[in-house]
Amino acid sequence: MSVFQSTIKETAALVEEALDRFLPTQGGPLGRVADAMRWGALDGGKRLRPFLAIASADMFDCPRSRSVRVGCAVEMIHCYSLIHDDLPAMDDSDLRRGRPSVHKKFDDATAILAGDALLTQAFEILAEEETHPDGAVRCRVALELARAAGKEGMVGGQMIDIYAEQKDFDLAGVTQLQRLKTGALIRFGAVGGGIVGGGSEEDVAALAAYAEDLGLAFQIVDDILDATSDAEALGKPVGQDAEMDKATFIKLFGMDGAKSKAAELVDRCKSHLDRFGDAAAPLKGAADFVFERKN
Ligand code: IPE
Ligand code: IPE
Ligand code: MG
Ligand code: MG
Ligand code: MG
Repeated sequence: MSVFQSTIKETAALVEEALDRFLPTQGGPLGRVADAMRWGALDGGKRLRPFLAIASADMFDCPRSRSVRVGCAVEMIHCYSLIHDDLPAMDDSDLRRGRPSVHKKFDDATAILAGDALLTQAFEILAEEETHPDGAVRCRVALELARAAGKEGMVGGQMIDIYAEQKDFDLAGVTQLQRLKTGALIRFGAVGGGIVGGGSEEDVAALAAYAEDLGLAFQIVDDILDATSDAEALGKPVGQDAEMDKATFIKLFGMDGAKSKAAELVDRCKSHLDRFGDAAAPLKGAADFVFERKN
């Protein structure tokens, strides 16, 4: 097992355990939204964004009790984005992480509310004192996550993604779309980990540069898998991008062009980590994983 594989296995288990603790279990009407939150967030996914947060913070000897909370916050936002992305009004996907998506298991209204509740709870977790004793640090992490998730981040990217179905996009347009809809939360993983861990401004900037390239590569590979894989391997529907005429690197440059762009980004992202020496081995391994992944 590579150092990346053993680290993500460990961090995913920590995050699963913490999410299970954070997420509500309730009866009555609140029970329904609680169940939907748990369905959308527990027991699934690669947990790449929390891995980035924890592995980045580890480089500065940050207590895991803090970095796991930052990892849970970004994973909650990610899960909310998936729940809403799958809704009939968006990608209309019935399958997520190998099981019915939240609106299929429950209903559209419950899925919307479960997403909203995960989004809100992410900031609740960051604001709590256990995340960092210094309120200024907590505030900065929350600010970074707000920017990554909102109109200049994931939400903005999702809007462009929908708009792009009716328009032709050039390289700059597709790059911006993908940096926002997917890159921003991946970037936050690394940056949030660096900040909570107490990295210097230069350290955090290097982590941001790494994760920006990594995030773009990640979405290019997502699009390649949508075109080449099958629903069983992927745990979500395939062929949707071509069907909906989504703006992707494949549409612009063909399959080979998209693959070489992803390979180039994966190579480049590792070079931003040189300043960290051997401590960055898990993060460098994540780059190879992003390129080679099958789901
Ligand atoms: C899927 O993200 C959505 C994109 C941003 C491409 P992941 O591939 O990280 O999904 P999970 O969390 O592993 O299910
Ligand atoms: C969605 O991109 C990215 C999000 C912000 C959720 P996709 O629509 O390509 O993600 P998948 O393929 O459904 O996971
Ligand atoms: Mg989508
Ligand atoms: Mg989708
Ligand atoms: Mg996709």
